[in-house]
Amino acid sequence: MKPISNMAFYCCGARVQDAATASPICGDGYAKLFMNDYGQRIYDKFQTETTTKVSMTVRHRIIDEVLRQMLHANENLSIVTIGAGFDSRPYRLAGGNWFELDEPALIAYKNEHLPAETCANPLRRIAMDFCKDSLEDKLSVISSSSPAVFILEGIFIYLDEAQTGALTQTLNRLFPEHLLVCDLVNRDMVEKYGQRLRDIAAQMNAPFKAVDRPESRFSSGGYQVEAKISLVEVCVDLGLYSVPKYFLNYFLKNEVDGNAVYVWRGQKAPVRAPAGCAQSAQASLSLIVG
Ligand SMILES: C[S@@+](CC[C@H](N)C(=O)[O-])C[C@H]1O[C@@H](n2cnc3c(N)ncnc32)[C@H](O)[C@@H]1O
Repeated sequence: MKPISNMAFYCCGARVQDAATASPICGDGYAKLFMNDYGQRIYDKFQTETTTKVSMTVRHRIIDEVLRQMLHANENLSIVTIGAGFDSRPYRLAGGNWFELDEPALIAYKNEHLPAETCANPLRRIAMDFCKDSLEDKLSVISSSSPAVFILEGIFIYLDEAQTGALTQTLNRLFPEHLLVCDLVNRDMVEKYGQRLRDIAAQMNAPFKAVDRPESRFSSGGYQVEAKISLVEVCVDLGLYSVPKYFLNYFLKNEVDGNAVYVWRGQKAPVRAPAGCAQSAQASLSLIVG
């Protein structure tokens, strides 16, 4: 597998570990189906990464909740996950018409361990060599006239400005009404909390490309923020960090701002993001889940 694809075992391993706890954050019971000796050896490299594993699991939970709300509003929504890795949402969430894009080797492995045909929701997996294939060609099987949400989780930290621009321009051109859900971590947060993680990723040939204000790449590309959900706020909501909520905006403002899940609205997107999310473009999990 390619270096960034190997990082999918790190994300998956964190969900395996979470699912085995008494009170899971995500409770992804499918994650263990993908773990093998190869994946475990990769995951073991991140043994000391306790905080970043929690953060990644919380990020996954936030996106689960965002999608649950969207599916509640429209059970026929198309959900397109680019760089899906070992995401098992089509199996865990009710409704939706699902598409997963990833590297051929990863898709083949995923099909072997959790065949798309066994999913209760319609699910189509699309193999794509991100270095060679055309995203436009790969997305041509998806109707651009029905509402679609694109999920890019754990992706943009690996992409440079040109790659991010090319990807978002393609989405905006082909799906002017789409929503885009992604996580964005700024340089400050990587330097403050993710140095070891960054070093391990670099050793694995999957270097981070952190920037000061990653969100500006989206706003300058014509996207509007529908919601911004701070990971640290959700950690407090879930009782994972025991600091008073008011404390965050006084003393941890950079942390609140610097690591978040964003819901972006393409130029003409009429699909509403979860109602709670829209509040001042910033929300926490309690708002999303009501
Ligand atoms: C860190 S993993 C995240 C996987 C999954 N989204 C998750 O959160 O568990 C990154 C994924 O992106 C895929 N990928 C590699 N190059 C990519 C690119 N240029 N654009 C989008 N995804 C890419 C990898 O194969 C891998 O599955």
